Amino acid sequence: MTTFARISGTGGYLPAKELTNSDLERMVDTSDEWIRERTGIKSRRVADDNETTCDLAEGAARRALEAAGRTTDDVDLIIVATTTPDRIFPSTACLLQQRLDIHGCPAFDIQAVCTGFVYALDVADKFIRTGAARCALVVGAETMSRIIDWNDRATCVLFGDGAGAVVLEASDEPGILSSHLHADGSYEKLLYVPGGVSTSGGCPTGDDAYVKMRGNETFRVAVNTLGRIVDETLAANGLDKSDIDWLVPHQANIRIIQATARKLSMPMERVVVTVDTHGNTSAASVPLALDVAVRDGRIKRGETVLLEAFGGGFTWGSVLLKY
Ligand code: UT7
Repeated sequence: MTTFARISGTGGYLPAKELTNSDLERMVDTSDEWIRERTGIKSRRVADDNETTCDLAEGAARRALEAAGRTTDDVDLIIVATTTPDRIFPSTACLLQQRLDIHGCPAFDIQAVCTGFVYALDVADKFIRTGAARCALVVGAETMSRIIDWNDRATCVLFGDGAGAVVLEASDEPGILSSHLHADGSYEKLLYVPGGVSTSGGCPTGDDAYVKMRGNETFRVAVNTLGRIVDETLAANGLDKSDIDWLVPHQANIRIIQATARKLSMPMERVVVTVDTHGNTSAASVPLALDVAVRDGRIKRGETVLLEAFGGGFTWGSVLLKY
């Protein structure tokens, strides 16, 4: 019998501190009106100085386990998608494993920036389908605020912190129907952080430690690429646009989300939007949005859900699933 991987529970965790557009008006030359019109963002959450990516990941993971009716004893695989790990090493997944008092199962991070959770879900799906795992904890967690230049209005208004998680389990019923992952490293310079561990100068300090983005060019590639991945996903499953019940997109910009919804001929009522209150939480954005819509009762068991994301690399991908 075929083994599928099915989401049995979701969880989300946001830091308490809220940063509104009017707070940002006091920090840089911007306006609430510009941010809302160009991005759809009204506020975002920001981690405290002593709050780490692993702290956020732990909050989301515990909630996902509770929703799945599972305990930490059941978990046999941990994957954390993050661009902002607590440390160079151990991985945030290993730190999370320690927090949850889980011992022995594989635990590793995935770095695909905003597409990280979609990548992680696909990897976990493959572990489960091959029988290498039965109960995976898949987390997207970020403290993007740590790699943002709070004097750069082009980027600081966009990002937020948070974590989302799912428990993915072996099941006789689908589950994840298909995943589609892509990358094109030639776009490096449109969205990147200059500094890194082995670049000259070593660990980044000052301006090299911060996100640089050519926003408008990134925007155009994102809209085109996400349109293509919608087609690819539907074709791979022999589905029509109308077969998709919910779109859970990466939350970078409401205008990108609306463009993808138009591509799917999908009314915005069927699109999960959290960018207004979360901002762009990178790898956390898709699982956070999924958790919001599952918990408020919009996404129901058996419905067909399309997850998609686009981010630095560039990386992009989609997962089609039956919830
Ligand atoms: O998650 C990973 C993928 N990331 C994305 O997909 C993000 C993609 N990019 C975007 O979402 C949008 O490009 C932005 C929201 C970043 C920018 O919106 P835009 O409509 O592309 O604006 P723009 O970059 O073309 O800038 C328009 C104007 C410029 O002024 P001038 O040159 O026209 O005088 C900017 O200097 O807006 C100015 N501007 C701002 N004004 C007020 C840029 N940032 C701000 C700001 N407040 N925060």
